[in-house]
Amino acid sequence: MLQEMMTVVAQKRLAPKIYEMRLTGNLVKEMKQPDQFLHILIPRSDLLLRRPISLAEIIPEKKECIIIYRIEGEGTAALADLKAGDQLDVMGPLGNGFQVEAVQTGQTAYIVGGGIGVPPLYELSKQLVKKGVKVKHFFGFASKEVIFYEAAFKQLGEVTIATDDGSYGIHGHVGHLLDQVAETAPDVLYACGSKGLLLAVESRYEGQNAYFSLEARMACGMGACYACVCHKKSDPTGNESLKVCDEGPVFKVGEVVL
Ligand code: FES
Repeated sequence: MLQEMMTVVAQKRLAPKIYEMRLTGNLVKEMKQPDQFLHILIPRSDLLLRRPISLAEIIPEKKECIIIYRIEGEGTAALADLKAGDQLDVMGPLGNGFQVEAVQTGQTAYIVGGGIGVPPLYELSKQLVKKGVKVKHFFGFASKEVIFYEAAFKQLGEVTIATDDGSYGIHGHVGHLLDQVAETAPDVLYACGSKGLLLAVESRYEGQNAYFSLEARMACGMGACYACVCHKKSDPTGNESLKVCDEGPVFKVGEVVL
């Protein structure tokens, strides 16, 4: 884990409250695995806790990376105010992300995401396609107006979308999309999204070659404070825990209690 003052290259609003920020710095050389995250210090002296934000894309040839975040409070609102040339105190890359080694060239991967859980799946999908894996994306969003990156994902593979309000794609949630393809099992499945989405994945794919990324409240971001623990499903006492920040955020489906 390293720390650096990275520089904002560009910032763009993708949808209401959803922003894409492009950063440059030497840390990019360390970024390899999809769904590792950056622990970002908000440039306001009264906001002391760093915010964990997943990498959406790593562009080593330009020494750049992209993060996509949603404004959830004062911290992320302050991030959205940053302009090209501004500096940001960044720690990372942190966490154990998605393993592209879980699938072989020529095999098929289902990539399942919802809302602000979709961004880290972009780097994952890119790396899988580069490896020669066939990718199929299943995404859920609240409504048409908060959909982002659909065209970018379409360049990598099939994209099927559900919206909660039926304003785009199939009316419903990601579980409904997965039910439509239930007769064909993928070689691997990767998921990132809300607890509801992860439960929908767990109920259909537990015991298979399937992985999901957990969200958790974090403080230190590197395994020291135990703010982010989840429990092992195999331990009925509930005493054995795993730290989402450094043992995750990606776990095998069925390994942890949601
Ligand atoms: Fe401190 Fe995970 S955030 S141990």
